[in-house]
Amino acid sequence: MPPRKIIIDTDPGQDDAVAILLALASPEEIELVGITAVAGNVPLSLTTRNARIVCELAGRPDIPVFAGADRPLLRPLRTAEHVHGKTGLDGPALPDPTMPLQAAHAVDFLIETLRREPPGAVSLCPIGPLTNIALALMRAPDIASRIAEIVLMGGAYFEVGNITPTAEFNIYVDPEAAAKVFACGAPITVMPLDVTHKALVTADRVAAFRDLGTEPGRAVAEWTDFFERFDKEKYGSAGAPLHDPCTVAYLLKPKLFSGRHINVEIETRSDLTRGMTVADWWRVSGREANATFMGDVDADGFFALLTDRIGRL
Ligand code: BDR
Ligand code: CA
Repeated sequence: MPPRKIIIDTDPGQDDAVAILLALASPEEIELVGITAVAGNVPLSLTTRNARIVCELAGRPDIPVFAGADRPLLRPLRTAEHVHGKTGLDGPALPDPTMPLQAAHAVDFLIETLRREPPGAVSLCPIGPLTNIALALMRAPDIASRIAEIVLMGGAYFEVGNITPTAEFNIYVDPEAAAKVFACGAPITVMPLDVTHKALVTADRVAAFRDLGTEPGRAVAEWTDFFERFDKEKYGSAGAPLHDPCTVAYLLKPKLFSGRHINVEIETRSDLTRGMTVADWWRVSGREANATFMGDVDADGFFALLTDRIGRL
């Protein structure tokens, strides 16, 4: 089987960076045709920079990186330096990127790629706010039926929220965009906090990355060392959740995850619960299923996969 083509839409972010590394470490299964950057964890000027730093760390300066939306569809941008640090990639000292940013806009790249490739050939892997994906769908509604699958990190049901009591960061930052994506009709798989809060980087797991003895292994360990202070303090957990790589791991080994095909709607109107993913886990609403909402992960299997693949870089 030829590798499946994917586009990662991202706001790096240390955990985004690990997701990109995982894709680049898996060329037999995944062809990363491009990275589209969006404003989220940090402003766009930094997410475009960070995406290129990660490509160069993986020895892949040939991956095209595109700049997308610098703010949500309707709302002011909310960032997360309190988690990811001032640059978004705080932790190890990494050189400034030398590879260029592409001239085209991320939204044009998304539309052109999906129109050029046969229907069902390209999957999208959004791991930041969904602004770029929503803009592409609004500008070119015909692409919805051409997307093989959208595998996104965002939302929560049993874990409820991380940026507000009821909302997860990626959905909260641009709820209108998320609502458009969840209504688009393409197959959607969701990695919510319910899953990612079970993918914790414990001391042993960080040590395994460090012991790889490679630059990417060291970077993953040091990124984790940096951002785990926030989650450990907040949740009292053994380590930080590695959210975004769950999406790429699902593309590589879907059996690591389990969930339900259910209806998921996005709250956009309430000030109190804006950005909530109203997931009909118990199938009580009668609304049509529009997403596979994951609930569990084999965390040991996930970290074994991740460590093995990062070790190949
Ligand atoms: C999500 O928010 C960001 O801070 C992370 O990169 C991840 O995509 C988790 O809520
Ligand atoms: Ca992210």
